[in-house]
Amino acid sequence: MENITKTLKKSMKYIRRYYSSTPKVGLILGSGLGVMADSLQNPLSIPYSRIPFFPVSTVKGHSNTLVFGEIHNLKVVVMKGRFHYYEEYPMEDITYPVRVLKELGIKVLVVTNAGGSVNPRFRTGDLMVLTDHINLMGDNPLRGWSREDLYPRFIDMTFGYNPEMIQVLKKAALKNKVPLRQGVYAAMTGPSYETPAEIRMLDSIGADAVGMSTVPEVIVANQLGLRVAGISLLTNMAAGILKKKLDHKEVLETSEKARSKFIKLIKGFLLELSKMEI
Ligand code: HPA
Repeated sequence: MENITKTLKKSMKYIRRYYSSTPKVGLILGSGLGVMADSLQNPLSIPYSRIPFFPVSTVKGHSNTLVFGEIHNLKVVVMKGRFHYYEEYPMEDITYPVRVLKELGIKVLVVTNAGGSVNPRFRTGDLMVLTDHINLMGDNPLRGWSREDLYPRFIDMTFGYNPEMIQVLKKAALKNKVPLRQGVYAAMTGPSYETPAEIRMLDSIGADAVGMSTVPEVIVANQLGLRVAGISLLTNMAAGILKKKLDHKEVLETSEKARSKFIKLIKGFLLELSKMEI
């Protein structure tokens, strides 16, 4: 951790050889949602593997590229593929890219994921804006953080999901006629899906959706003072709700089906952001 300044400098030096502008918004695209990057104008792709100190995802459907581009004249940087705790990366590595995005100059971070619906009133294929989260990963990306000269250790999470960004997402959903749920995301480590008993527990403690990502990145984004907007694509009803087995293939299939709705919402959101001072 003492070397975070040095490692960031090296990562940035590499990226700056190819990209010299300042993106306003960073997007982290989860399972099956990477196609969003194909909508960018003037795209420039850099494979994660070329960026010093960047991890590389081992999950199928994650393409491991950083894509710079524009949408509605708004400069954005997209992470096509993210890292999971279950891939055995430490939280520090999972969240390293968020630190790089901050160095690049982003002000807003959009995090997306595939999740299971814990709330029985939601449906497979629904989109949910995250209003809050419950960290059940048993770890925290700021554990061991000692560079309080750079960023604080004790981070307020009261507005972890920025209230203004939540409103902008809702506005974009309304304008684009994309139905949007809202709720609390619970993060488990995975990679096994939850048991029905765990899902009943999650329901009783106030979770609406469950997944295996996002929370580490959101904690670090808050440490860095970024405004966070989070969206879950509910690819399945969580274990035990429908009395049938969960299947990773179903997760990927649902995200493919809901893709256009998802892209519409993100594009609408970015259009609203392009009209704002951010
Ligand atoms: N549980 C955890 N993670 C998930 C799920 C789920 O049901 N669906 C997609 N990601």
